[in-house]
Amino acid sequence: MLEKFFSPRSVAIVGASREQGKVGHEIVKNLLLGGFEGQIFPINPKATTILGKKVYAKITDIPAEEVDLAIIVIPAQQVKDALIQCAQKGIKSAIVISAGFKESGKEGAQRERELLQTAQEYGIRILGPNCLGLINTSANLNASFSTEMPPKGNIAFFSQSGALGTAILDWAVGQKIGFSKFISLGNKADLAESSIMEALCQDHDSRVILGYLEGIEKGQEFLHKARQVSKVKPIIITKSGSTSAGTRAASSHTGSLTGSDVAFEAAFKQTGVIRARTIEELFNYALAFAYQPLPQGPNLAIITNAGGPGILAADAAEKNNLNLLFLSKETTDKLAALLPPAASVYNPVDILGDAKADRYQKTLEVVLEDPKVHGVLVILTPQAMTEIPQTAEVIGEMSMSTEKPILASFMGEYAVREGIERLAKYKIPNYSYPEHAIESFHTMWKYRRWQEQPPLTYVSLDADRERVRQIIEQVRKEGHLEIGDLKAREILAAYRFEVPFSRVAEDSSMAVALAEEIGYPVVMKIVSPDVLHKSDVGGVKVGLKTPEEVHAAFHEIMAKVRKFMPQALIQGVSIQKMYDGKREVILGMARDPQFGPLIMFGLGGIYVEVLKDVSFRIAPICREEAQAMITEIKSYPMLKGVRGQKPVDMNAIVDALLRLSQLAVDFPEILEADINPLIMKESGQGAVAVDARFTISPN
Ligand SMILES: Nc1ncnc2c1ncn2[C@@H]1O[C@H](COP(=O)(O)OP(=O)(O)O)[C@@H](O)[C@H]1O
Ligand SMILES: [Mg+2]
Repeated sequence: MLEKFFSPRSVAIVGASREQGKVGHEIVKNLLLGGFEGQIFPINPKATTILGKKVYAKITDIPAEEVDLAIIVIPAQQVKDALIQCAQKGIKSAIVISAGFKESGKEGAQRERELLQTAQEYGIRILGPNCLGLINTSANLNASFSTEMPPKGNIAFFSQSGALGTAILDWAVGQKIGFSKFISLGNKADLAESSIMEALCQDHDSRVILGYLEGIEKGQEFLHKARQVSKVKPIIITKSGSTSAGTRAASSHTGSLTGSDVAFEAAFKQTGVIRARTIEELFNYALAFAYQPLPQGPNLAIITNAGGPGILAADAAEKNNLNLLFLSKETTDKLAALLPPAASVYNPVDILGDAKADRYQKTLEVVLEDPKVHGVLVILTPQAMTEIPQTAEVIGEMSMSTEKPILASFMGEYAVREGIERLAKYKIPNYSYPEHAIESFHTMWKYRRWQEQPPLTYVSLDADRERVRQIIEQVRKEGHLEIGDLKAREILAAYRFEVPFSRVAEDSSMAVALAEEIGYPVVMKIVSPDVLHKSDVGGVKVGLKTPEEVHAAFHEIMAKVRKFMPQALIQGVSIQKMYDGKREVILGMARDPQFGPLIMFGLGGIYVEVLKDVSFRIAPICREEAQAMITEIKSYPMLKGVRGQKPVDMNAIVDALLRLSQLAVDFPEILEADINPLIMKESGQGAVAVDARFTISPN
């Protein structure tokens, strides 16, 4: 895939220039300096040679039969014509470096649409526009205007920001960190992260895929591709900036809780993509994945020559839910025999400040032999007796003969520099702070579990779709876009939710008659298309036990709502069976412009928007994802039951989430949904959706 971009046999540079410092010049220079062995055809109507290469006036003048790749660096207005010329020459791959497209405003956006149209018409794939180009170290191809080629290696990196890309390449050169490919995505008119990830998945030189993204346009495609690729190799992405999801004024709880970032967070969780919060973290993880094997388990042994860093490491381990107490008695006995009496033989193993290389070596040997150990972090602080480069050598040698990952934290800068360089030769990632090493190890372990997890199955649920279609049509005909109360319950019932028996009373004697029929206690609620949150206006009364109470409640509700909302159209008061509502949860749905339907789960009640203790996934979701949504919230222990309480029916929540997900997928016209609350019964007894609201689109 994308073979002609990454390994072209011949390249045309449209807009090659004789003038030093111009992009059209630098590209030719970089191609030559990079050692590209294919043919290079500079195109420029006014020149004869550039950097010793014969120049052609037009693309169609190129004498070669086939040209694999065009790099276009001419002004934006002329790019479309250049593409047509490419088509005439049979070129199917083009990197458009030129700026002046979507990034430059309305006119540019139109130009970009036309460019894409032309490309599609002629079957040309485009990288860019407004990009920096790409680098493939294994083909000695520097088709970018970044001056330096990073060393060969197995890290692939794609970046939506070109400038950040150059900074990182420079850093890589300085740190001698090897890259397989670098791809600047630019405006992503055609090729975007999904196709790039797919290509890198098949690339034997790339072991780990890194990305810097500001946004994802085709969310569902990303979900689909990333899920497949991440099973094969790790994808680590830093995402910055925000989408417009949170900017629309939302009337539902779910709508107001879906900020810009939750869709991304959910997308990363659902695809196994590792999210790095910062560029630093991105490379911390990258080095661990690129250099070391994945751990077979979570047990990390820590060896240190200083107490403080050992404690820092232990704290970080705890924060990452890594248990350190696993060394076998055999191992601690061996360590006790080997180390001075003042040493600590428990994890973290403190081999003391006077430890020389040989003590590190012997300790490492014993620890690695323990079958319970899945990985080792070696911490070194430069002290008077410390043999820094020798210790690095010792660690390096040991790493050659073990399948377990070894990470290092040689702390400091000046004194440890040579040690770190030696570690790098053996592909031992070094972290200036042990916390970062621990996080990286934990991330590797999490990734391994993701890779081993059996494929998830997404099933389609049975429902009365026709009924929902009718309701939506009817509501629209009546001129409404909000669906509450009776019709909302009908929609839920059509998707097999349990809903309470409920009837509307127009006067107080009818209310009493209905309550007698339903059985006490009952709940009474105002029925009005204008009232969104009924309790807020005194429109809900719960726990009514006698005809007198029902009678009084009817009048009270009417009076309150008339007082608070004199304009509201009141249709009556609904009488509902009362459930034991001690534990209530909220389920919701809102639509993200990039990823589509976002399903929300949280503890219900009036504090939901304050506490924001909610979890999200993008629909469709599967059973495992629904389960994870439940266990993820902080108040999960309350659902399991505290102080002798019995657990709620978790399966009922899972089922409800799956049904809501199905509804969201089936009806794109439902823009938002709130089921608040879903009243939970004890294990095995289900859950009742006592209140729901939907917002639909006008057409
Ligand atoms: N059938 C019911 N059984 C038990 N409690 C209920 C019932 N209906 C409503 N409640 C309680 O009353 C609260 C408010 O009612 P609800 O119908 O959700 O109105 P709104 O959210 O519009 O104020 C719910 O959060 C729940 O605690
Ligand atoms: Mg409610």
